[in-house]
Amino acid sequence: MKIFGSYPKTRLRRLRKSIWMRDLVSESNISHKDLILPIFIREGKNKIESIKSMPGVKRYTIDKLTTVLKEVKKYKIPMVALFPFTPNKKKDELGSESLNPNNLVCRGIEFIKKKFPDIGVMCDVALDPYTSHGHDGVLIKKKIDNDKTIQILVKQAILQAKKGCDVIAPSDMMDGRIGVIRKALDKENFKDINILSYAVKYASYFYGPFRHAVGSKSKLKTDKKTYQMDYRNSSESLREVGFDIKEGADMILVKPGMMYLDMINKIKKNFNIPVIAYQVSGEYSMIKNAIEKKIFTDDAILESIVSFKRAGACAVVTYFALDVAKKIKN
Ligand code: PBG
Repeated sequence: MKIFGSYPKTRLRRLRKSIWMRDLVSESNISHKDLILPIFIREGKNKIESIKSMPGVKRYTIDKLTTVLKEVKKYKIPMVALFPFTPNKKKDELGSESLNPNNLVCRGIEFIKKKFPDIGVMCDVALDPYTSHGHDGVLIKKKIDNDKTIQILVKQAILQAKKGCDVIAPSDMMDGRIGVIRKALDKENFKDINILSYAVKYASYFYGPFRHAVGSKSKLKTDKKTYQMDYRNSSESLREVGFDIKEGADMILVKPGMMYLDMINKIKKNFNIPVIAYQVSGEYSMIKNAIEKKIFTDDAILESIVSFKRAGACAVVTYFALDVAKKIKN
């Protein structure tokens, strides 16, 4: 890059001299419209419980979802992502509960669509909340079977669509699942359902608190490295994204977000497709813990969220969505 100007004729601090000047020249900004709030749901009635691994985040019984959805509506957050905490007795080898039309997620979608029809609902397509081994796919002879897993995932996706889910988000990292799901959605005449592909999902240690939140942590005896991406790789992400676009994805998700801002930027530069960042549970908890211990002020939240926009993301999935929306409003 050519360097223009020099001191004293040029003083870059002139553009930083006041709040209004900094606002005027700011390049990346976050709006409440760019936020997606993940919500954990559990069985039972009249309960809102804390999650030890994620301070400030709760699990809600379906009837109690109103508490959080009212806030989502008030602060105009466009979409929520539902994640179920499935009781152990409903888990099995094949994750059969994922196909139960009356499972937590199905009831959650129906509840939201009935009471808050204007709030978008996004659902994960993956088996990990439902399997007795905690993996996202079917385990056969200690290996995750790609094609057998897809056969279940496609049914899971259609079920979610039937219940009223707006955005189907496969997070399983099986090869070829986007194409199969898109074809099935078309066949069932769900032409307006979006597919947000978790195309660039790394095998990350930063999912730890989430796995505790959905109750898969204690189940999981091995890592997910045979299907989720190796964090040493970068160009592999472009192959993943390319395939998924060809197969019919509408949007691409990068996860984790903060540790992988370079991937967001790379995809943004190489493809004409909306890129969404997921600030995952470990990234959330690190910041939240530091705020609770007064090591950071909560201004750190906004800094972390704007970094996704600067990198090129159009939206952010974050457990801080309500905090951010409130902060922006004030
Ligand atoms: C499961 C899934 C995971 C997350 C979202 N969907 C965890 C995993 O792959 O083990 C992580 C989200 C977070 O850490 O906040 N397919």
